[in-house]
Amino acid sequence: MLEPNVLVGELQNLRDDGFLSDALLRHAVKSIKSSDPRFDWVGVYLLKPEENMLWLHNYIGRPTTHAKIPVGEGVCGTAVAEGENVNVPDVGAVDHYLACDPRVKSEMVVLIRGEEIFGQIDIDSRTAAAFTDDDEMALQLIADKLAEQLAAERR
Ligand code: SME
Repeated sequence: MLEPNVLVGELQNLRDDGFLSDALLRHAVKSIKSSDPRFDWVGVYLLKPEENMLWLHNYIGRPTTHAKIPVGEGVCGTAVAEGENVNVPDVGAVDHYLACDPRVKSEMVVLIRGEEIFGQIDIDSRTAAAFTDDDEMALQLIADKLAEQLAAERR
């Protein structure tokens, strides 16, 4: 089970020890992936605003052809375009869904944002309707911690 407060503490420790966002983003993906068997693919996309494009920073799970996703496309790009987290209980019901793995049934996207959108945590599940409001809240705590570091590096 995902314990966001433990992971947020670990991310703060990494910050205190001088690690940059690259280390934090990789640690977060690893910890989230191993926390719950419902999470079959976990990745972080970062937004390149000058290109209006999401770039896959790191992931664990089956390789994907969607390393770059234009803002406004797919579940991921739509989340950025609309500035909202997304919980898709049935990916088959979403016309703009971009498939990575045909076994995936549900998906959650939680934005990493401060004053601007930095990117997102994206999770796929082979379980239908896998994601709950509690998952979204837990992932938001983690995303907010990642945003602190990303914001610090923009200054
Ligand atoms: N399903 C996503 C694409 C990314 S994969 O899930 C890794 C989408 O529709 O944007």
